[in-house]
Amino acid sequence: MAKQHNPYDTVLAAVEDAAKILGYSEGEYERAKYPERETVVHFPVEMDDGSVRIFTGFRVQHSTARGPAKGGIRYHQNVNIDEVKALAAWMAFKVAIANIPYGGGKGGIIVDPFTLSDKELERMTRAYTMMIAPVIGPDKDIPAPDVGTTPETMAWMADEYAKINGYYNPAIVTGKPIEIGGSEGRVEATGRGVARALMNVLKKRDMHPEDITVAIQGMGNVGSITALTLSELGVKVVAVSDVSGGIYKESGLNIKDITEYLSQNRKNLLSGYEASGIKRITNEEILLLDVDVIVPAALENQIDETNAGDIKARIVLEAANGPTTPEADAILKDRGVIIVPDIFANSGGVIVSYFEWVQNRQGYYWSEKEVNERLMYKMDKNFEDLWALSKEKNITLREAAYCIALDRIVKAANKKGRLA
Ligand SMILES: NC(=O)c1ccc[n+]([C@@H]2O[C@H](COP(=O)([O-])OP(=O)(O)OC[C@H]3O[C@@H](n4cnc5c(N)ncnc54)[C@H](O)[C@@H]3O)[C@@H](O)[C@H]2O)c1
Repeated sequence: MAKQHNPYDTVLAAVEDAAKILGYSEGEYERAKYPERETVVHFPVEMDDGSVRIFTGFRVQHSTARGPAKGGIRYHQNVNIDEVKALAAWMAFKVAIANIPYGGGKGGIIVDPFTLSDKELERMTRAYTMMIAPVIGPDKDIPAPDVGTTPETMAWMADEYAKINGYYNPAIVTGKPIEIGGSEGRVEATGRGVARALMNVLKKRDMHPEDITVAIQGMGNVGSITALTLSELGVKVVAVSDVSGGIYKESGLNIKDITEYLSQNRKNLLSGYEASGIKRITNEEILLLDVDVIVPAALENQIDETNAGDIKARIVLEAANGPTTPEADAILKDRGVIIVPDIFANSGGVIVSYFEWVQNRQGYYWSEKEVNERLMYKMDKNFEDLWALSKEKNITLREAAYCIALDRIVKAANKKGRLA
């Protein structure tokens, strides 16, 4: 049986590896291993039946050495402080590799959002926003969507913050609806960036999209846009899954039809989707399919020491944060599997969140074409840096990503006369 993995240990293992490669002494990077601030809040919310429920939420700021903290808000029943700490740290490294002027943060509430009505979700979001208001702000810490949260959640947060602040400032959150200051292309940005990351790897390996088969675990915002973009690029997506299980079709799934079905209602799941020729598979099976690329796009720790040896794909494209444990990472490295690491692969979301924040502060809005061009420029440039360092030092893409990111964080802190 797999051991329980603390995602924060996954972060620490990657940081230690990078520090070793960079030749840092412990004192030079020690600070980068700890969050700057952890906030825990408990707050009451009135349910539709008149009862009162107490919720627990978090907001963690890992590092602000390079700029204000930035990172999503997760609504999930398994959220805990170690997970939020790990997610905040990944954000700090992700924005550093993306080379945008932010630090890392993350938040969450222990709740299964699918058990709440829309009105209960709104009241809970507003109460949480009020509780974390002292530690967030457009120049301090800027939330965004993550698992279980949406543009609508961001709209409630922005509106609640406006009540506290006395005026509406759209730069308080990103991933907002376009009508209230959101950016064109933000909803699609993470998935588009994930797809672009894969195209870059394929080019280096002289592989062609039309010859590639892909399986995607998780069909939320990131998984579904990744699936749509890849299928538009000619890649054959043969399997997808969500919390209810997966579907497989050897000749390729109709991704447009599937995403349309899922988007009709926030509670729609793949278990309710019907189409001819599809076979039902489990979330364990989807990662072990005989495909060229697997894309974990759901939660942490999906690839561990129990299944890493059985993975048949030659490329693992990490759309989710922290899907691979350090033990699995070592097994896949030995087997020559290319891992496109999360802190680079899914950085498209925060890159366009940064563009949204820039547009909000300028009061000048860009077309979707401009947003996408700037996003692709960054994904390509950052990939070239990663690839070059991995070749130069003969290290994995993950090691290269952490080396670049850690070095940028440490240097920024040192320039301010601070320890990293
Ligand atoms: N939203 C973003 O912009 C963004 C940016 C970068 C990284 N990420 C990361 O991408 C991942 C997915 O985020 P999202 O925004 O798409 O979330 P989401 O809530 O929109 O979707 C999550 C998906 O995962 C599925 N899922 C949940 N538990 C599962 C399980 N045990 N097995 C299989 N599937 C399961 C859900 O059914 C859903 O399809 C997370 O790791 C998140 O941190 C998101």
